Amino acid sequence: MFDLASIRTSLAAPVIVAPMFLVSCPALALAACREGLIGSLPAHSARTRDQLRASLVGMPERLTEVRSSTAPHGGAAYAVNLVVHPTNERAAGDLELLIEHRVPIVITSKGAPGDVVRRIHDYGGLVLSDIANQRHAQKAADAGVDGLIAVCAGAGGHTGTLNPFAFMNEIREVFDGPVILAGGITTGRDVAAAELMGASFAYLGTRFIPTTESLAEEGHKRMIIASHGSDIFFTAAVDGAPANFLAASLVSAGMSLEALAVTPPGKIVSVKDHKRWKDIWSAGHGVGSIHAIQPAAEVCREIIAQYEKYRIVR
Ligand SMILES: Cc1cc2nc3c(=O)[nH]c(=O)nc-3n(C[C@H](O)[C@H](O)[C@H](O)COP(=O)(O)O)c2cc1C
Repeated sequence: MFDLASIRTSLAAPVIVAPMFLVSCPALALAACREGLIGSLPAHSARTRDQLRASLVGMPERLTEVRSSTAPHGGAAYAVNLVVHPTNERAAGDLELLIEHRVPIVITSKGAPGDVVRRIHDYGGLVLSDIANQRHAQKAADAGVDGLIAVCAGAGGHTGTLNPFAFMNEIREVFDGPVILAGGITTGRDVAAAELMGASFAYLGTRFIPTTESLAEEGHKRMIIASHGSDIFFTAAVDGAPANFLAASLVSAGMSLEALAVTPPGKIVSVKDHKRWKDIWSAGHGVGSIHAIQPAAEVCREIIAQYEKYRIVR
């Protein structure tokens, strides 16, 4: 039986390294776990169910190794992201695999978690659910999730549009459980600020794209290092869902920013010879504070050290 409060006490900082399609991998997740954060994987990043199985096999043993290594923290838990949208044909089979491997934390995204919660709770696992507005929060709370991931404006990938202060207040009107705050969080100081706002954890994606372990293309990593927050372009016209992209990668794919800016909601702009997400790169507003490609352990240690300096909540 897992519980978020005891997982938190064994971590070095309240951070979940967020799941990212074509970026996350077991090496990145384990590096985060080793340093005392929570690492994660998106189930759909594995091309087949066998590949997903291969990522999950041995995870408990590897975490135990991490726990018994010299690291004072580490190995508390890892998470796997399951897209619950009806268009994900693999969802049902992937869920069975997560149950079989007793994944400690399942992160549901792109829809209400529904019955997934009961199935995961049956073996003592935890469910965190991505939300972008109060209606999502209410639905997830009604489904009995263990925590809400508030995806706020400025997040990498598919993003929410609400200001984090305003959104936290709206969430608190319908849910008094753990909230995990996401969107533009890159430093230990940000993590301390999220905690002060009442979040139990911070959720960091973009910060970990330019790590040596990340599967992101070299060009994606370098573009993040060269970018500022103002280089991030918000559009739903790439794949139909509102998301943040590196403007230069949209232009490289032959897209016109002017045309994207006036594309009506629901319309997808075609991209010849370019694959969405593989060649058109996403990142959040936090890019401006990322300056080098580093090993994930180094990034984790910087975040933890700065969090220790700024934390107020004890
Ligand atoms: C390249 C990229 C891919 C992503 N892929 C996924 C995904 O597969 N599943 C998911 O739930 N979230 C995905 N996200 C969103 C992250 O899990 C997280 O919400 C976001 O990165 C947090 O904001 P930040 O990037 O500003 O830290 C992705 C984000 C990025 C940047």
